[in-house]
Amino acid sequence: MKVLVTGAAGFIGCHVARRLAESGRCEVLGVDNLSDYYDVGLKRARLEHLGGCGEFRFLQSDFAEPEKFSGLVAHFRPDYVVHLGAQPGVRFSMENPAAYTRANLQGFASVLEACRRTPPRHVVFASSSSVYGAGARPPFREDDDTDQPVSYYGATKKANELMAYSYAHNHALRLTGLRFFTVYGPWGRPDMAPTLFAKAILEGKSLPLFNEGRNLRDYTYIDDIVDGVVKVLLYPPPAATSTNPPVVSSSSLAPPAPPRLRILNLGHNRPVETLLFVQMLERLLGKPARTELLPAQPGDMFETCADLTAVQAAIGYVPKVPLEEGLRRFVEWFRRYYRI
Ligand SMILES: NC(=O)c1ccc[n+]([C@@H]2O[C@H](COP(=O)([O-])OP(=O)(O)OC[C@H]3O[C@@H](n4cnc5c(N)ncnc54)[C@H](O)[C@@H]3O)[C@@H](O)[C@H]2O)c1
Repeated sequence: MKVLVTGAAGFIGCHVARRLAESGRCEVLGVDNLSDYYDVGLKRARLEHLGGCGEFRFLQSDFAEPEKFSGLVAHFRPDYVVHLGAQPGVRFSMENPAAYTRANLQGFASVLEACRRTPPRHVVFASSSSVYGAGARPPFREDDDTDQPVSYYGATKKANELMAYSYAHNHALRLTGLRFFTVYGPWGRPDMAPTLFAKAILEGKSLPLFNEGRNLRDYTYIDDIVDGVVKVLLYPPPAATSTNPPVVSSSSLAPPAPPRLRILNLGHNRPVETLLFVQMLERLLGKPARTELLPAQPGDMFETCADLTAVQAAIGYVPKVPLEEGLRRFVEWFRRYYRI
């Protein structure tokens, strides 16, 4: 079967593309524009690492160019599409919202339109725990209110879910949006806590911790995320039944979700305080951190935690990798890749 993976040079995309290509059952086409939001060298290294894997091909291309991208999809005719390309990062969306408008709104519109013209069996796309606003109560359920996502990044992800709703409803596309919760592991993004913290610790630099390190995050190991993505991909939302849960919004005015769209959390359900996370890294790196405890930042979420009931029911998803083990694998990769 043919699978198109966008964001294939990205953190999650490279792992998903690898798993699919190594299965021996897929012809995988990876697409990425190698955006320079962070070190392009890391993206190229991921692609090199992917190079020898089964039937994998890479094309440097921009999915936010609708005509070109539609042409690419029409030519490849994928059975499945995994859309992981995006402009990620909560904090950067304060400084540069335009990058999010282009990649996450125009880009997603272009992906949907290409899939309408050449419909695959199933489109799986990345949403985020950031759709749950600052006032949300953990553990977050898919039918909780997500009408106030706070960050512009979260707003674009929420918009993606609504855009998907419309395409599922009007054009009979089968779609699943996955709300990922703080993904970490080998080949991780350099703008996220594990790499930022590990670098600061090893370089003896001060490590600012907001809310005095008391925020709780539901860290999810990359292999668990890949398990979830691949399994979800192979099980599209069932055809119309009255038992499909409402998935887009909990608002009492919201219409029931069209059966061909499903929104699922993909997390770990074991939130950990930032201070404890830092202590675990200190132990693994064999060096103490120079922490700087700062007040909470406006708009920051105090806790994220995924309720996994829906994804367990849909695909039997159970995260397997505990944080201690996941961080050990991350640190092993980190030392090798950065030669520290
Ligand atoms: N990593 C996490 O913890 C996390 C959490 C929640 C949601 N997500 C979402 O999961 C997805 C993957 O995240 P990631 O951590 O792998 O991010 P990433 O930045 O490593 O990967 C995204 C890739 O998309 C590519 N891209 C961006 N705009 C593009 C365009 N117009 N055309 C082609 N390629 C483009 C980038 O070059 C990048 O390689 C994103 O949608 C992200 O918002 C990630």
